[in-house]
Amino acid sequence: MAVNFENAKPRIGTIVHADRADLRDPSFAQECLRLLDERAVLVFPQIDLSDQEQLAFTDMLGERSEFFKRSAENEGSDFYRISLDPEIKMDTQYVLATFFWHMDGVTVESDPPKATLLSARQVSAEGGETEFANTFAAYEALPDAEKARLEGLKAVHSVYAGVRPILDFSVTPEEWSGEPTKTEQPVVWTHESGRKSLVLGVQMESIVGMDLVEGRALISRLLEWASQPEFKYRHKWSEGDLVIWKNLGALHRVIPYDSTSGRLMHRTSLARMKVAA
Ligand SMILES: [Fe+2]
Repeated sequence: MAVNFENAKPRIGTIVHADRADLRDPSFAQECLRLLDERAVLVFPQIDLSDQEQLAFTDMLGERSEFFKRSAENEGSDFYRISLDPEIKMDTQYVLATFFWHMDGVTVESDPPKATLLSARQVSAEGGETEFANTFAAYEALPDAEKARLEGLKAVHSVYAGVRPILDFSVTPEEWSGEPTKTEQPVVWTHESGRKSLVLGVQMESIVGMDLVEGRALISRLLEWASQPEFKYRHKWSEGDLVIWKNLGALHRVIPYDSTSGRLMHRTSLARMKVAA
């Protein structure tokens, strides 16, 4: 099959029609890196990669991030397996928290992953679609006065804020059993390409130096802005689909699905992307 690229929506996403063999071609990988910067999300419908092929393609695009190996259940695995199945040992609350808009890895001190590759091993009959919102496009569409206002602002991101929507509201940060990590991240992120995007998500607690309520109102307004339909793409998964997204250029969340659905995804991430030629 000749490789073919098709816009998923005008302002986000490219559908890549290619064969598995194309993924071994360095010039194809370069084109994917260029498109990730431009389109934020790439979709490879039913490309049916094996685990080894997903790892090999991840390595073609850059340097793997292995931050997920810090947890005992992932030690020794090359994949982060995402599932709500109680048979698969996962920290379920982090999987449930992905029902809300977020970006990966923004609450830990190391650099957040640059991109994520997610393949569908088993899909749910109902729910389980992943939504993406292009925060490059959302930033670029802001009025100039708003861009100027956001320049230099930082936000506090915490794991607790990220899981709060799935906790009973009576659970205090001290009572919660998870990691109490917290970081400050710029609200406007400048990528290697020079392009800027908004860094947003449910993990945002506050805006540094701003009144708490004013800051939370700003966070809420920016999330609403970035998740408008024109910036958004919803992916309905089929088994064998691969989706890659630019982590700090795309918010993502999953439509709720049932823990008995069997849904299983294999994730790899890039700590660094090769620079597109
Ligand atoms: Fe995620």
